[in-house]
Amino acid sequence: MKLQSIVNSLYSVYAEAKVIHWNYTSENFAAIHALSKDIYEFAEGAADTVAERMRFLELEPQILLVDTEYQKDQGFEPLIMVIEEKVADIYNEMNKLDTKKGVNKTTENMLLTITEQLEKFHWLLKSHLPE
Ligand SMILES: [Fe+2]
Repeated sequence: MKLQSIVNSLYSVYAEAKVIHWNYTSENFAAIHALSKDIYEFAEGAADTVAERMRFLELEPQILLVDTEYQKDQGFEPLIMVIEEKVADIYNEMNKLDTKKGVNKTTENMLLTITEQLEKFHWLLKSHLPE
């Protein structure tokens, strides 16, 4: 199991949500501005939770710098795509859980709580897309 790659995924969501929060100015500005803040705050907190779980498991969490750039007038769809992609990556890592270690049910539950919230954010963002 690579909890570090889950931390990295959460920082990717964090970074994408942050640049949208700073730069997005189009339709539904107020809602997207507020929602992107909820998302980056959640992603940073979730990364912290996973990193501290790593410490409990005697692993050493790292922060890898995320290369995220907002393209002019890109909208907020890239954030929807990043969340989709990173939730899939987290599920993928969860499937590699080492069941020999007694601590993994707890780790799995923690990750399910995180993905559940990310999926909710995904759904909320999509509701702001034009029909
Ligand atoms: Fe802000």
